[in-house]
Amino acid sequence: MTTSSASSTSSFLITALRAISASIVVMMFFSTNTNYLRAEAARAFFVFGDSLVDSGNNNYLATTARADSPPYGIDYPTHRPTGRFSNGLNLPDIISEEIGSESTLPYLNPELTGEKLLVGANFASAGIGVLNDTGVQFVSIIRIYQQFQYFQQYQLRLSALIGEKEAQRRVNGALVLMTLGGNDFVNNYFIPLSPRRRQFSISAFSELVITEYRKILLQLYDLGARRVLVTGTGPLGCVPSELASSGSRNGECAPEPQQAAAIFNPMLVQMLKGLNQELGSDVFVIANAFQMNMDFLKNPQQFGFITSKVACCGQGAYNGMGVCNVLSNLCPDRNVYAFWDPFHPTERATRLIVKQIMSGSTDYMSPMNLSTIMALDSRV
Ligand SMILES: *[C@@H]1O[C@H](CO)[C@@H](O)[C@H](O)[C@H]1NC(C)=O
Ligand SMILES: *[C@@H]1O[C@H](CO)[C@@H](O)[C@H](O)[C@H]1NC(C)=O
Repeated sequence: MTTSSASSTSSFLITALRAISASIVVMMFFSTNTNYLRAEAARAFFVFGDSLVDSGNNNYLATTARADSPPYGIDYPTHRPTGRFSNGLNLPDIISEEIGSESTLPYLNPELTGEKLLVGANFASAGIGVLNDTGVQFVSIIRIYQQFQYFQQYQLRLSALIGEKEAQRRVNGALVLMTLGGNDFVNNYFIPLSPRRRQFSISAFSELVITEYRKILLQLYDLGARRVLVTGTGPLGCVPSELASSGSRNGECAPEPQQAAAIFNPMLVQMLKGLNQELGSDVFVIANAFQMNMDFLKNPQQFGFITSKVACCGQGAYNGMGVCNVLSNLCPDRNVYAFWDPFHPTERATRLIVKQIMSGSTDYMSPMNLSTIMALDSRV
């Protein structure tokens, strides 16, 4: 009796201990998990570059490069234009979603004050390029060095809110997105009567752009950026605008802009590799936007698109001429188009791109993808 009571007591104890240790494991799991989420949610996100990532800064400027009238934003949660060059969300929005943050506000948006500053900021401006003379036709846009001046101003405002030391910690710990370079070709080198084209061959021009881009990225590092996603150019010759202007007959991509992308992107990869070596750290991570786009541009049906040639919103051949506005042709279902307007992807295509940014192999993300970055950085 005593023996049996003792053994039942001890088996009770063991069961209890098991239950306690299991709940400790569960608690540890949940607490590390929420710490991880909190750390990630608290991580700031900064965005620099052109229309692929502008979330509305140009709404506040006297420029023709704008997306603040219908049907832009038709599939945005509010169904209203916001300045994003998309039918719905754009690249930074979807990255914010993935890292568990709210979208960063455009730097010029007056709502970007107080606690909102902690989320980060979007400094991008449609029309700009690496070179200062890219986008002159759009009049008043925020060129990259001006974006950096705003970033410095932002850091002063953040310091006033949380103190200088904490502000610097947040900037160093932030995720940064830089999307630049496409306009140096499509809105500079390849425009009719371009002076740059008379001056340079495609490869000499690419070298010039890379030399200037390197200075830009070093300045970004000097301003405190320590984890920067740099997107290479997409297939420049395959956008509906280039199909239309090159007189593509059967949807074949314009050869010269394609050649430019094929020359520029590998130079960019090498330049970033060199910078990381020099800095002794994987600060710059290249996203192979060319390949990410080519996958669904080559096999649209496989990805649920009915076309990867014709823009949803536009006019003329491939809906690739002029701008997208209320008078344009508009497709009824944006989910089956790869291109929203003559230059920019639909939200659905952008989601495919972000999928590769998150978990793509080294062919897409080098030296690592964003899931790996998040796992690494959550440990520091
Ligand atoms: C572009 O403009 C910035 C700021 O005005 C200047 O510092 C930079 O040297 C210029 N770049 C070139 C290549 O002229
Ligand atoms: C990218 O992310 C996934 C996780 O989503 C991982 O399994 C994969 O190994 C990563 N690839 C590289 C090259 O880091």
